[in-house]
Amino acid sequence: MRDPDDQSSNPSANPELASMIEARMSRRAVLGGGLGAATIGFLGGSSVVGRSAGAAASTAAAAVAPSARRLRFGFDSVAPSAADEFVVADGYTAQVIIPWGTPLHSGGPAWQADASNTAAEQAQQVGTHHDGMHYFPLQRSHPNRAGLLVLNHEYIDRTLLYSDGDATMTPEKVAKALAGHGVTVIEVRRSGDTWRHVDSPYNRRITGTTPVTFSGPVAADHPALQAVGPPLGTLNNCANGATPWGTYLACEENFNGYFGTTDPTFVATATETRYGLDAVGFGYRWFEADARFDLAVNRNEPNRFGWVVEIDPWDPTSTPVKHTALGRIKHEGALVTTSRGRVVVYMGDDQDKDYIYKYVSAAPWRTMRAEGRHPLDEGTLYVARFNDDGSGDWVPLVHGRSNLTVGNGFADQADVLLRTRQAADVLGATKMDRPEWIAEHPHTGHLFVALTNGTSGANTPNPRFPNPYGHIIRWREDGGDQTGTHFHWDVFVLAGDPAYDPAVDINGDIFGSPDGLRFDREGRLWIQTDISNSSQNLASRGYDHIANNAMLAADPHSGKIRRFLVGPRGCEITGATPTPDGQTLFVNVQHPGEATTAWGTPTPADPRVVSNWPDYHPNGRPRSATVAIRKIGGGIIGS
Ligand code: FEO
Ligand code: CA
Ligand code: CA
Repeated sequence: MRDPDDQSSNPSANPELASMIEARMSRRAVLGGGLGAATIGFLGGSSVVGRSAGAAASTAAAAVAPSARRLRFGFDSVAPSAADEFVVADGYTAQVIIPWGTPLHSGGPAWQADASNTAAEQAQQVGTHHDGMHYFPLQRSHPNRAGLLVLNHEYIDRTLLYSDGDATMTPEKVAKALAGHGVTVIEVRRSGDTWRHVDSPYNRRITGTTPVTFSGPVAADHPALQAVGPPLGTLNNCANGATPWGTYLACEENFNGYFGTTDPTFVATATETRYGLDAVGFGYRWFEADARFDLAVNRNEPNRFGWVVEIDPWDPTSTPVKHTALGRIKHEGALVTTSRGRVVVYMGDDQDKDYIYKYVSAAPWRTMRAEGRHPLDEGTLYVARFNDDGSGDWVPLVHGRSNLTVGNGFADQADVLLRTRQAADVLGATKMDRPEWIAEHPHTGHLFVALTNGTSGANTPNPRFPNPYGHIIRWREDGGDQTGTHFHWDVFVLAGDPAYDPAVDINGDIFGSPDGLRFDREGRLWIQTDISNSSQNLASRGYDHIANNAMLAADPHSGKIRRFLVGPRGCEITGATPTPDGQTLFVNVQHPGEATTAWGTPTPADPRVVSNWPDYHPNGRPRSATVAIRKIGGGIIGS
């Protein structure tokens, strides 16, 4: 139950955002004449701050304050729950669709509840550990009744995937794991209030062995990308994005965990260490049965991971493309927006003390596409620097500029991108508490990022440092121009339970470890949580009252937060994506039944120790699934 993201691999002396927040909080407390740290949660929406804070602070607060329009929450709070069930607000229905193992086609291999499906069968079924997801409307006339769901499968559960667990590792077991990863494209249709998947020529699996290619400054023929065999697959696809031209972006996060070696002579390079590569990995032990994942014999294979992968769901024969201009990090997600005609992609690198990035295309995306250029291949990658006066800067990762020079060990732009983390270290980027999803307010353009938690700053005086509950930061690009290089930021909310941390001042329902963020078109900020299973439900971690992971709605103006649904035991909630009319919301329940400190550790003999959701089959096992949520009688979700 070690959570590898909580371990920092950043040795640089760059400042940490938490210490800056501490500085700003202290300053507000002074400037505000008695405004304590506990009041900062929604200061941007508070006229008190505007009146009482000093000039610089109030300017910054005004710059990050969203519009004054108040939102309606047309549902009552769902209470925290530790039950092994999916609970949604009264007045709503929740329907489980496409759980792990669902055959892609009606003639495909049936799910076997004892996990006896083979690797070949798994490759013809929906993968496991559903994560980031996007709904692409299928028919112009019925966009809310038919579409493609495209979803990531982040990882596999080493106990639940196999009938006999993973005490022994075999080529077949590695193959099944690879087939459980990747992306599913599947057509779904609604009849009345009921969604179902259908046989469709679009239905497709992309797995850890699907041929892929590379584009951008690190070209497919770059020496660093040459390894044993052709480039195959995408792994650890966490959150996602969708482009204005109708494609899907899958992001590669903790790819390092799949590699390792038994070779005692293996010594990691500085770059490998910065990316978390070592002889052990996360315990998957694939290298014992598949030399592709053995660092001692296939050293460049990890260079093929850590990218943003573009998938065209409309062409089932298309080859996924890894766009190297967006950098090589542990990509959480890729929020795509446009500004001045250009495409802008906001991205978090989800590890403790890592950074926030954005990419801006070199020219308007329509022009580039008309010219046969790809908007994700030519552009500038920036990393965020948060200043303690509430301002911020985007610093370009461009070879030859700042310290990214040959003299400093960076050969060219491809080298900068292959070693994005190290380039950002050199530029003095601001260390963050595990940057997860980023969301953009649909009316004001404010950006919100979930910082899920941070554990490695125990020497700072900040009461939230270490920060086991996480928080949400917001910022506004100066002039409202997402292509710009300056912004103003503030704290939106410190998560947690005030029973354990008096600094927590949530206006509404408590939550912890924010991860997924998405605005709906009316401006509600949906927060999806991913409390680690080493903390979930535990009083000793301050997480007993918060209980199971949940999804909540937040009003970005008032700061009001209301719990909308709670997941079963051991899961995280993720992947929220609506139909265009906002009347169906698809969410993912990932890793129900995973080993938890609170509930226990599943075994091959009893995989149901923690959860048996959603089937509750007496001899089955828990499985990740998508849930389609509708309002009884119709209406926009949350309204
Ligand atoms: Fe895959 Fe950062 O959650
Ligand atoms: Ca996540
Ligand atoms: Ca997470």
